Order: sequence, then C-alpha cells, then structure tokens
Amino acid sequence: MPVTYRPATRADLAPASVVVRQAVDDLRRRHGFGALITPPTSPPPPPLFPEFCLSEDSSGLWVAEDDSTIVGFGFSWMSGALWCLSQLFVRPCRQAEGVGRVLLGKTLEQAQKGKARSKVIITFAYNAASVGLYLRHGFHPREPLYRLVAPLGTLMQKALQSTCDCVPIDPVATSREWIGQIDDEVLGFRRESHHGFLSGASVAEGFRIEHAGRPVGYAYIAGNGHIGPVAVSLEASGAEVIKAVLRRASGGRPQRLSMLVPGSADSVMGALSALGFRIEEPYVLMSENPLGNWRNYLPRTPGFL
Ligand SMILES: CC(C)(COP(=O)(O)OP(=O)(O)OC[C@H]1O[C@@H](n2cnc3c(N)ncnc32)[C@H](O)[C@@H]1OP(=O)(O)O)[C@@H](O)C(=O)NCCC(=O)NCCS
Repeated sequence: MPVTYRPATRADLAPASVVVRQAVDDLRRRHGFGALITPPTSPPPPPLFPEFCLSEDSSGLWVAEDDSTIVGFGFSWMSGALWCLSQLFVRPCRQAEGVGRVLLGKTLEQAQKGKARSKVIITFAYNAASVGLYLRHGFHPREPLYRLVAPLGTLMQKALQSTCDCVPIDPVATSREWIGQIDDEVLGFRRESHHGFLSGASVAEGFRIEHAGRPVGYAYIAGNGHIGPVAVSLEASGAEVIKAVLRRASGGRPQRLSMLVPGSADSVMGALSALGFRIEEPYVLMSENPLGNWRNYLPRTPGFL
C-alpha cells in the first residue's frame, strides 16, 4: 500500500510515541549509544507535550500511515513567530523512502501559515540523515549541545555553594512579567503557554533564581532529576546559577541529574564538568537564521527547546 499522510488526532499520539521510541532505539544502537534510559519493555511515558500542542494548534502534527499502521510522525509547534520542529521519526524499516521528507514538508506548512520569522530544530548530532535532510530544507547547524549526566552520589561529595538562591515559583501565573522579560532578553521571544504547560501538567517544578534578592533566571526541575529549561539573565553568572539549581535538585534525591547544555554556555559547562558531569549524547541546533543566546539558555529537551 502507498504511504498516506493526514493530520494527527489525539488517538494517534500514543502509537506515534511507540514509533518515536523504536526510531530512537534503532538510531542509538546503530551508533553505539546503547539502550534508552527507560527500559524498552515499559510503555513510553504519556505524550503530554504533543497532547498540549495538539490542543493549542493541531496544524503542526502529522502522521504517515501504511494500511492503518503509523509508520512516521512529524510534530511542530509555534510560539509567536518562532517555529520549532519537535519530533520527526520514521519506523526503522520504512526509513530512506521519502516519508520523513514529506512529513517535514507538512509541518513546515504550519510555519508558512503562521508567518514564522525563525525556524529551529534540535537533532542528534551523529545522525547524518536528519542533519542532511534539514540542510536540504535550509536549516544550518548553529550550536552544539550535550546531554550531561551525573549520578547523585557524585554530586553529594562536592560543595555546591552559590551566591544565588533557588526559590519555588508559586504560581507561575503571577511571575509572568519577569519570566517574559528574561525570555525576551535571552531567547528573543516569549513562551507563556509553555511555562503554563510545565507547571500546569506537573511536568516539573519551576524555580526563580535570585541574586541579592533580584530574579536573575528561572529553572525547572523534574522529579526524575532532569533540569531544564534554565534561563540566566545576561548580567548573571551561569556557574553560580547552575550550582544553586543543582543544590535544589539534589534535595529531591533523584538517582541522577541531567540537563541539555549548549556549547556556548561555557561557564555552565565548565562548572558541570568540574562537578563530574559526563556527556551522554551530542545534539546540534539547526536554524534558518541565527537566533537565541545559547550562552544563557539551557533547553529542556530537543523537542521542547
Ligand atoms: C531522520 C528521519 C526522520 C528521516 O526520515 P526518512 O524517511 O528516513 O528520510 P527521507 O527518506 O525522507 O529522506 C532522507 C534524506 O536524508 C538525507 N540524507 C541521508 N543520508 C545522508 C547523508 N549521509 N548526508 C546527507 N544527507 C543525507 C537526504 O537529504 C535524504 O533525502 P534525499 O536523498 O531524498 O534528498 C528518519 O530517518 C528517522 O526517524 N531517523 C531516526 C530518528 C531521527 O534522527 N529523527 C530526527 C529527530 S529531529
């Protein structure tokens, strides 16, 4: 049967997340990265962010089907004039047949319709097929990123003194203005609904980073020890901010701490390396035009930004 393409519905999101996991597992295995952190036998986590984006603007979510079986999934979101490709995954046995190219084209229609001024994708730095596909569509590699990880035990032996404090944001709605100002300063756009998603769906706990009583950034910490997004205002020290965040995250006693750190965030990267963090996976940020200040912003995940 020929592959057909249609807008995704809510019912597609769970089967699509199985395709995502199959494609990630296969890619990682082929490149010697080993199994994913979640055991392949357990069901993938609920697709909360795709569900949220589907309810906000369904035009960015597409499935490719062969005889009613999902063989590919493309998912993009927009915030203001920024378009982001969140996920593009094709079942391993159906790759290199043109499915990814068509799905990418469908998601890019959202950018055209929404008059996007910036378009961004974070992909696996070691996947020649995805990097090559995006290059062919006008995206350029701009920023290396690394998922850094440390077991909690490693951190407990280190001093995490910081000149900054990490205070719960409660509720996020009352902090809209200063969060928006930091996003404007660091990213060049606001993403109010995404802050609402993180706190509303209890995906992660939000914190205001303070220096001398003034907010100099924000950070989200998930129960499994994953940290991000983290934004650091331009006048603050990334190393001091990240140590305050780590101290707070360690208190939740997760098994390990992890975050996605851009290469430009040199002071954060230096502090994490000195604390014993190790590289787990390399990524690359690709965009049509330069955007964002990646020295001062740590994305949550490749697809959330
Ligand atoms: C990346 C992925 C979505 C692409 O989908 P696909 O259906 O396999 O890709 P297509 O057949 O549509 O296109 C493959 C394109 O890869 C590019 N490509 C492949 N190998 C390449 C290489 N070595 N160098 C440069 N470009 C390459 C080409 O542009 C090719 O298109 P073309 O030759 O027809 O012009 C899919 O392979 C996949 O799921 N990979 C694993 C997960 C992943 O990396 N997802 C991206 C997350 S952002």
